[in-house]
Amino acid sequence: MENILKRTHMCGVLTEKNIDEGVVLNGWIQKRRNLGGLIFCDLRDKTGIVQIVFDDTIPEELFQKADSLRSEFVVGIRGTVKERQAKNKELPTGDIEVFAHELMIYSEADTPPIYIKDDDDVSENLRLKYRYLDLRKGKMQRNLTFRHQITKVAREFFDSEGFTDVETPILCKPTPEGARDYLVPSRVNRGQFYALPQSPQLFKQLLMVSGTDRYYQIAKCFRDEDLRADRQPEFTQIDLEMSFVDVDDVIEVQERFLKKLFIDLMNTEIKLPLPRYSYQEAMERFGSDKPDTRFGFELKSLNETVKDSEFPVFANALAAGGDVRGINIEGGADQFSRKDIDKLQDAIKHFGAKGMVWIKIGEAETTSSASKFFPPDKMKEITDVFGGKAGDLILIVADKAKIVFDSLGFLRRDMAGKLGLLDDSQFNLLWVVDFPLFERDDETGAYYAMHHPFTSPRMEDVPMLDTKPGEVRAKAYDIVLNGVELGGGSIRIHDSNLQKKMFQVLGLSEETVKNKFGFLLEAFRYGTPPHGGLAYGLDRLVMLLVGEHSIREVMAFPKNQAAIDMVSEAPAVATEEQLEELGIRVVE
Ligand code: AMO
Repeated sequence: MENILKRTHMCGVLTEKNIDEGVVLNGWIQKRRNLGGLIFCDLRDKTGIVQIVFDDTIPEELFQKADSLRSEFVVGIRGTVKERQAKNKELPTGDIEVFAHELMIYSEADTPPIYIKDDDDVSENLRLKYRYLDLRKGKMQRNLTFRHQITKVAREFFDSEGFTDVETPILCKPTPEGARDYLVPSRVNRGQFYALPQSPQLFKQLLMVSGTDRYYQIAKCFRDEDLRADRQPEFTQIDLEMSFVDVDDVIEVQERFLKKLFIDLMNTEIKLPLPRYSYQEAMERFGSDKPDTRFGFELKSLNETVKDSEFPVFANALAAGGDVRGINIEGGADQFSRKDIDKLQDAIKHFGAKGMVWIKIGEAETTSSASKFFPPDKMKEITDVFGGKAGDLILIVADKAKIVFDSLGFLRRDMAGKLGLLDDSQFNLLWVVDFPLFERDDETGAYYAMHHPFTSPRMEDVPMLDTKPGEVRAKAYDIVLNGVELGGGSIRIHDSNLQKKMFQVLGLSEETVKNKFGFLLEAFRYGTPPHGGLAYGLDRLVMLLVGEHSIREVMAFPKNQAAIDMVSEAPAVATEEQLEELGIRVVE
């Protein structure tokens, strides 16, 4: 006897066009209703749901069998497509139903611990524990399919542009991205450890030395960092590198890739070239190096306007070389109560801000937390900087520049969210370029590479490496979509003298450099093309395009907030024997 009914169609694709056709379907029972002489079942596969009918024209034995069906039983059904009397406009297959005349039960199912429906609001940990059931949901299957389509477009595009897909090692030495590494002990070389790659960075540069010319890879990356909605310990990059290029060349290829992606998958024409903001401009206008430009509320400086003010908060900030800046939440005066504003004061403490000044412009009078320090005409001068009008709410922060930008950048987006201005159907792509080459640690005064130590400075800024390293701009660029950093990259240093200089400024001893990156520097001695590249966070890209708010929704088996894989329960303790063999002792 056959043990499978050979499928002719997927469930979700049947339409009126199939009426009177004989079909064989395979799938899971979503639900079953017995209305006496009629049994209705919803049959589900990854393409959707179709209604199956067992009526009184079929043999009693078959009817009984259909009556034994329960949710999540796996079945094969042979039947005929008929026009549906009570059409269901909600369902793509809602115009038809399938009258069954054969049923094969492949497997029965226990009552599932979670409902298989998109809007079920069970706890995320339960969803992650039973991820294989969670993934049966239509939405989750659509997300997986969409992710597959993105990588497919990427492969086709980069292939057509002469990029070669090359795999790079997973067991390797620490890479320079600067998060914490995942270490893997070596049994063969006792006492030594591999690091899982934070990115293929060093290997893709070696590939350029090797003459591969254009490389890409859909690459798994590993970073032991604190988890957030858009961060996972294990994630995927669309990673690429090109030889004989400068900033504009890399950007030009990426813009064409993004254009194709949006046309093919989103049916959306994006206008090229994409807007480019210097890091400086992005910070000054949006308080962020990943600006969301879907709404206004741009930052304005009050440094000039309040330079003679005796209001201690402003005067102290300016005297210490800081900034006074603010945003105008247009129409926000009536939307946010004192209590809401107090909560915002608390929220920006997180960025180091001590507080903020608010101004509410009313029809008759303007009220403010700083009104006793500013007579009405000065207050008017301040609100004019923001183009303030009746009904507006102005928020001002005075502090060190970084604190001011971080706080206002946060407030800008937070308020836009609360006012419903974050439209998920709008896609604002932009580049942020000319990042500072270095970041300075306020406490120690030491410089760190903002991107990584192989990023090239802009040539005209090279003389400042000795004198004003903090002002040197990098040939680094980020691609930003709706306020999320989608990807980043840079042109690399291919001149060994310049690289040495870079290490000097970073305060890295020759020994450290040799130890960490000696192999790359040695490779560079044998003929290195000018090169540069970029990596997209694939998970973030999928998340934004399908309109999700967490990358966990677009990964098949993500880790939970505590970095645990709930399905297999990794990580787990190692056995005594394993530890013994590796020469490792666990300290409680
Ligand atoms: P970078 O560190 O900026 O650059 O990473 C590139 C992109 O990867 C994504 N990303 C993440 N996604 C999910 N979870 C994480 N923990 C995570 N960390 C990063 C982001 C980010 O923009 N080697 C360089 C690229 C280059 O210079 O070519 C690199 O890795 O979307």
